[in-house]
Amino acid sequence: MTTVSPTLRLIQLSDLHLVEEGKLLRKVLDTPTRMREALDQILTFKPAAVILSGDIGQRNHYVHDDAAAYFGHFQDQIGIPFIAVGGNHDPIDSVGTAFNPGKIASGPELGDTVHDVQGLRVIGLDSHGVGRHQGHLTGEQLGWLRQRLAEPAEHGTLVVTHHPPIPSTTLSQRGSGLQNADELYEVIRETDVRAILSGHYHHQIAGTLGHIPVWVSGAASYNFDLLAEDTTLTGMGDGWATVVDVYDETVTFSSLIITPREKVFSKSVG
Ligand SMILES: [Fe+2]
Ligand SMILES: [Fe+2]
Repeated sequence: MTTVSPTLRLIQLSDLHLVEEGKLLRKVLDTPTRMREALDQILTFKPAAVILSGDIGQRNHYVHDDAAAYFGHFQDQIGIPFIAVGGNHDPIDSVGTAFNPGKIASGPELGDTVHDVQGLRVIGLDSHGVGRHQGHLTGEQLGWLRQRLAEPAEHGTLVVTHHPPIPSTTLSQRGSGLQNADELYEVIRETDVRAILSGHYHHQIAGTLGHIPVWVSGAASYNFDLLAEDTTLTGMGDGWATVVDVYDETVTFSSLIITPREKVFSKSVG
């Protein structure tokens, strides 16, 4: 029987694709404003942590210093950690020492970090992929991860990696996930890892890596139209986050739309 209240509630924001203030992503989308409005909305959930699962900046836009300062402001004001990994749009080492100030350990890459969120361990892994079609984890990273997981955490572990270890729904994105997902599974299969959180695909999708749940958050910036032709990627303006509820018995993922939509009705439920 699942308890009524989660042990911990986290918010995942993925694929912000930030551009410089005053610029627009693909000439139409004000992603810095989208980010600020999203954070203002999701903080009403009083999350225990915010997870940023990569593609924080849009390729060739130099936004990481400003983004780290903005996230740092929130961490200082409300006392919750922002846990960030880089994506294929984030230049190598751009998600570096200015991010993840609350980490309790770091790994072979600057973006490899360990966090203790009230007994829940969250491990971010840099899945590389800048200028490449796929993401991957190095042997050094996997060895480090194995060491970190040797002892279980009080509430188990969530792993965050930008490239998902499951295929995309869109045919044109197949093969752009985590190249060596099988090696990751070998490392985590007999540990306390409870779920893997990813982004990158710009559409929500859930699956498993072996027996371990995998959740791919919708993007905060734009999301691909699954009704488009197989040969076309059509980006739509809806933005999404994920509410991650961690119970003793399970972990749940709820898609949270962060862009306007029409109310049909509301009624009092107690
Ligand atoms: Fe992305
Ligand atoms: Fe990506």
